[in-house]
Amino acid sequence: MPQTPVDLLSVGEVARRAGIAPSAVRFYEDQGLISSVRTAGNQRRYPRYVLRRIGIIVAARRFGIPLAELADVFAELPAERMPNKSDWRRISRDWHARLEARRRQLENLEAELAGCIGCGCLSLRTCRVLNPDDMLGREGAGARRLRAEADGDEPRTA
Ligand code: FES
Repeated sequence: MPQTPVDLLSVGEVARRAGIAPSAVRFYEDQGLISSVRTAGNQRRYPRYVLRRIGIIVAARRFGIPLAELADVFAELPAERMPNKSDWRRISRDWHARLEARRRQLENLEAELAGCIGCGCLSLRTCRVLNPDDMLGREGAGARRLRAEADGDEPRTA
């Protein structure tokens, strides 16, 4: 359906309704997350559905979803309509799974780091933080990190 001028919002209107700075609106457009049309005077005008897209962007930032990954999410949405409940359900379910995986990863890191509290050995062989899963032990005997440096390679840190 063609959009009338009433359906289109200026940068300032979008910013005010979304509660963000006009520069953020332009930035999101530069990143390809929202799009506008131009007036005869070359001013940007946005369809109303960008407000929902910006809502998703704001949520993504809150949950630490990189904008590059958000672009992938938006690429799966129809370009010329607002994201609907079904879209948001799918996106939020995916993000929930990601947050859950990140939480488990942080718990594992926390447990590893807890072993270092009060230790201070900084042992490249026995410390689980410096040698996770005994990676150096699986590579065989000898000074793995020092050998890599002598060979001109970047010493491995994990
Ligand atoms: S510093 Fe000793 S176990 Fe990590």
